[in-house]
Amino acid sequence: MQRRVERLFKYSRITNEFRRLSFESFILDGRPQPVKNAFACAKAYLEYFSRLRSGRNNSIALLGKSGSGKTHLLIAVANSLLSQGVGVLYFPWIEGMNDLKSNFEVISDKVQQLKQVEVLFIDDLFKGRKTVTDFQLEQLFDMINYRYLNHLPIMVSSEKDIDQLCTIDEAIGSRIYEMCKDFTVILKGDKSLNYRIAGKL
Ligand SMILES: Nc1ncnc2c1ncn2[C@@H]1O[C@H](COP(=O)(O)OP(=O)(O)OP(=O)(O)O)[C@@H](O)[C@H]1O
Ligand SMILES: [Mg+2]
Repeated sequence: MQRRVERLFKYSRITNEFRRLSFESFILDGRPQPVKNAFACAKAYLEYFSRLRSGRNNSIALLGKSGSGKTHLLIAVANSLLSQGVGVLYFPWIEGMNDLKSNFEVISDKVQQLKQVEVLFIDDLFKGRKTVTDFQLEQLFDMINYRYLNHLPIMVSSEKDIDQLCTIDEAIGSRIYEMCKDFTVILKGDKSLNYRIAGKL
């Protein structure tokens, strides 16, 4: 089992720095209520994962404010799942899409992995100032629709809320909504939500 876990961590593309992120290192004291809700949501998702993983609503989305801890919490879930022997792939939106685009010869292998891995974590979905390209939408739809049809969980972080995701692409946004609807937190509010600058306010 230990060797399998090591192999899964290596395959997950989670860096050593991110391997250290956990629920224990996430501070709740004095943090705004939406952050506490996101923490509780991520914890509950982890707890119920084995029971809900093959159902229709088997996924989680933490959406909203930059710096509020979305990536930290979902990496904490990913690290726990990996230590239990569940395969997770980390797909940071911008780098992940650039990587697909620049490796055209192996793109179908890579997309195949993203479709079939036990859990796919798409971090910072639709991040970037430039508009989303047709290439990105086609690849993403392929992954999400496959996972939707086959009841394979996704974890999603994004600064966009569900309405904004649907405005960009309704087929994608509405599938994410349905998959994540039991475990979705929208982190809305002022700058105090941003942990990076919270101490400086
Ligand atoms: N409550 C917290 N306790 C401890 N560290 C935190 C907490 N919230 C955030 N952090 C740390 O602050 C930094 C920013 O958090 P994180 O990257 O998770 O934010 P994010 O919501 O994903 O932001 P973005 O939308 O910009 O990607 C990280 O280093 C994270 O570990
Ligand atoms: Mg993030």
